[in-house]
Amino acid sequence: MAKQFDVVVIGAGPGGYIAAIRAAQLGMSVACVDAWSDVNGKAAPGGTCTNVGCIPSKALLQSSEHYEQAGTHFAEHGIEVKGLGLKLDTLLGRKDTVVTQNNQGILYLFKKNKVSFFHGKAVFNAKVDAGWSVKVEGKDAEELIAKHVVVATGSSARQFPDLPFDEEKIVSNDGALRFSSVPKKLGVIGAGVIGLELGSVWRRLGAEVTILEGASDFLAAADRDVAKEALKALTKQGLNIQMGAKVKGIDGKGKGVEVSYEDASGAEQSLKVDRLIVSIGRVPNTDGLGAETVGLKLDERGFVVVDDDCLTNLPNVWAVGDVVRGPMLAHKAEEEGVAVAERISGQHPHVNFDTVPWVIYTSPEISWVGKTEQQLKKEGRDYRAGSFPFMANGRARALGDTTGFVKVLADAKTDEVLGVHIVGPMASELIAEAVTIMEFRGASEDIARICHAHPTLSEAMKEAALAVDKRALNF
Ligand code: NAI
Repeated sequence: MAKQFDVVVIGAGPGGYIAAIRAAQLGMSVACVDAWSDVNGKAAPGGTCTNVGCIPSKALLQSSEHYEQAGTHFAEHGIEVKGLGLKLDTLLGRKDTVVTQNNQGILYLFKKNKVSFFHGKAVFNAKVDAGWSVKVEGKDAEELIAKHVVVATGSSARQFPDLPFDEEKIVSNDGALRFSSVPKKLGVIGAGVIGLELGSVWRRLGAEVTILEGASDFLAAADRDVAKEALKALTKQGLNIQMGAKVKGIDGKGKGVEVSYEDASGAEQSLKVDRLIVSIGRVPNTDGLGAETVGLKLDERGFVVVDDDCLTNLPNVWAVGDVVRGPMLAHKAEEEGVAVAERISGQHPHVNFDTVPWVIYTSPEISWVGKTEQQLKKEGRDYRAGSFPFMANGRARALGDTTGFVKVLADAKTDEVLGVHIVGPMASELIAEAVTIMEFRGASEDIARICHAHPTLSEAMKEAALAVDKRALNF
């Protein structure tokens, strides 16, 4: 006998599990289906973000940062460390514990909100009178009937043509979180978010890291000043980042991996490494979803086609997160998940894509929201810019972390904040103020007039806003 629900959510990543919780909060009967299993075969809801993305990578970034601090920066504070060592098993084990805590947190939230969870793969079965029939394959095999379906199946790492990941030597973001030893030489293809974050982790732990990036501009989506400062800092730390590299072939048959490529000058090169991370973007997960069975429209790249409200071509079938257009960011997926649940209940929410923040958790961290200076120039928009370096910020000096700056871009006439770009300590946290101001369509003068606690890094934001009007006080 099929089980009936108001809403069935396929996928328990940040888009799916949040949509399920919000729908339940609004009084609907909700099921969420997810196939992810941990090493013991137990359900591991949370998707890529929780299992092999945001959460484990941040755990490793933290551990590796501590290691590097202890090895290089503690001495500046007069702290002597003798016999510094690395227990990789413990470090990776801690990361696994953090992941498990998050998996269990989601299962707890499902219980608390009375969301029925099914561990298995959900496949569209048929259109039925009461809505949609969805089959759950796996341990919790079941037929579910839903008035509304939310597809939140996420994305997977894009592999190099004809080069599947073995997750040991040639790895995606997944294998790169669990190397059994620190590689002596590590290669990375793609200097995007994953390449830079995981490249940084293994470099801090002792690997010699070379990153081959196909594009000629470093972090093409970021403001050029930020990208320049970040490239300088990351290179100084020892990441060998080669721009304009055209990969010709990858040979993983021998002991290590050999990458042949053409460098920016057109010269043939070969890179021999112990392991290789391939981080060249991600592809949407729609295989085996039964899209063709029910006529769910996908675009030529496999994304589920949705309108501005995340509604697909099928009545009462919605899709959110990495499986639809827009940035592949957990927080974008969450916003869409909430909005869809609210739309199903008859509300009229709005997701503002113009204020979705970007964060890269390197050291220095990089974050931004809104337009870059280059975008404003291209649009012919009249703007004013103000920057403030962390070098002139008391808290940053006390922390011993003075790399980078905050840059505020504001409309020349109205002073509305159009973009904020940060490279420096705690950029991931500092960006929230900029997002808030922009969400309220505030002006740079609003930031400048807000009382910021002293001494904090956030004062750099205030000073950058003051600099828009050429009246920074501490620089
Ligand atoms: P990405 O899109 O950030 O970067 C991929 C890079 O690979 C680009 O710079 C691209 O030019 C380069 N590339 C593509 N093909 C290449 C080739 N054949 N040879 C050399 N370079 C090549 O993708 P990434 O790093 O794989 O991350 C995937 C997604 O995951 C992103 O959309 C990102 O937003 C998300 N993510 C977000 C994080 C965060 O918010 N902190 C952390 C990790 C991932």
